[in-house]
Amino acid sequence: MSQDQKAHSQARFSKYVAGYAKDDVFFKSDDLARLVQIADPQPEMLALDIGTGGGAVALRLSPLVKSVVASDYTPAMLEAARQRIAPDAPNALFSGADAENLPFADASFDLITCRIAAHHFPDPFRFVQEVSRCLKPGGVFALQDLTNPPDDKAAAYIDAFERLRDPSHGKMVPEYEWRGMCADAGLTVESTEIQRRRTTMLDWATRQGCDEATIMHLKVMMAQAPALVREWLDICCVGSDEAAFDHVYLLMRAVKNL
Ligand SMILES: C[S@@+](CC[C@H](N)C(=O)[O-])C[C@H]1O[C@@H](n2cnc3c(N)ncnc32)[C@H](O)[C@@H]1O
Repeated sequence: MSQDQKAHSQARFSKYVAGYAKDDVFFKSDDLARLVQIADPQPEMLALDIGTGGGAVALRLSPLVKSVVASDYTPAMLEAARQRIAPDAPNALFSGADAENLPFADASFDLITCRIAAHHFPDPFRFVQEVSRCLKPGGVFALQDLTNPPDDKAAAYIDAFERLRDPSHGKMVPEYEWRGMCADAGLTVESTEIQRRRTTMLDWATRQGCDEATIMHLKVMMAQAPALVREWLDICCVGSDEAAFDHVYLLMRAVKNL
């Protein structure tokens, strides 16, 4: 089942490579600067970016660290990242890598980042364990990802809403689960913060090629959302072309225990 989800995700990202590697949104948004600030890169550090997409985080880290490995599970995405960032990031290396089976030795990195990718991973705990294994003691894990409220029913509803638009969507992990997984994997969470980004439903759905029927279904889900979901997503203007909601992101800094 999880291999199916990975294959599905890989096929989908292969199809939408251009949007991630060429579109400047991923390279210029404010949240990227904040993630790098939280990561606190240092000149002697060996860094790894997981699920690098077009390579935005790796490019930003490159002048701030000794070297950075840009890694991704989708070969076409990794190639697009290489083409986009290699000329400006001479200390960047490129590696195919499944976040849940990282092809790196234990304690290889001082810093591991992962931005807006973990909700595609079928087994987030396995991912956190792999991050912990590959970090040196005292090494930093800086994560940004879509997150859900700490209510199972509301979370399931929001994941279903996302999956309707993108069938490769897995699960958006709530903060308390990230904290638990980190603790179990030998990482200490030092800080978390929430970011919200306003999203117009129609733009968001058409960007991934949703057909009329799917857009109608998304509208119905927004209109029928339970109170907790409405509140978490801050849904407004339902029934109009301006129907909008928030994408809610968790930023987290954790450190590998000594
Ligand atoms: C939204 S894009 C990432 C955006 C990018 N991190 C950025 O900051 O612009 C999600 C990426 O996760 C990758 N991905 C999905 N499943 C993965 C897995 N199991 N292991 C590693 N990467 C994966 C996809 O190929 C895709 O490139």
